[in-house]
Amino acid sequence: MKPQEIDHIAIAVKDLESAITFYTQILGAAIEHREFVESDGIEEVLLKVSDTYIQLLCPTTPTSPVAKYIEKRGEGLHHMGLRVDNCEEALRDAIDAGATSIDTHPRPGSRGTTVAFLHPKSTFGVLIELVQL
Ligand code: CO
Repeated sequence: MKPQEIDHIAIAVKDLESAITFYTQILGAAIEHREFVESDGIEEVLLKVSDTYIQLLCPTTPTSPVAKYIEKRGEGLHHMGLRVDNCEEALRDAIDAGATSIDTHPRPGSRGTTVAFLHPKSTFGVLIELVQL
C-alpha cells in the first residue's frame, strides 16, 4: 500500500453547526463539501486545510457507529483517511501486512469515493480509512 496523501482527518462531533462555526473560524477554512451518508448514519462536512481536509462527522441516528463512538469515548478524533490509487489492492496489502479489516470488500463512501476501513485494534489504536477517489 502506497498512500498518495492524507485525504482527511475526521472528528466526531455532537453538534455539527457549532463545530462548523468553530472550525471555519479558527482554520479560516470554507466548507468544501457537505453530505448525508445514509449507510453510515452521519452527516459530514469537509473543510479544506492546506492540501488535506478536516472532516466533521455528526451522527444522524442513535444507531450510527459514530453515535456509539461518541457515547463511549466522547467527541474527538475519529479516523484518518489515507488516499490510495486502488482501494481493493491497498486493502489486500494492509491485510497481508497484518491489519484486520472492518470491510471485507471496498464499498461506496461519500463524494463518490470507494472506501474500506481497517480495525483500530490492528493499527495501534487508529481507525484507518482507505480512500480511492
Ligand atoms: Co472518512
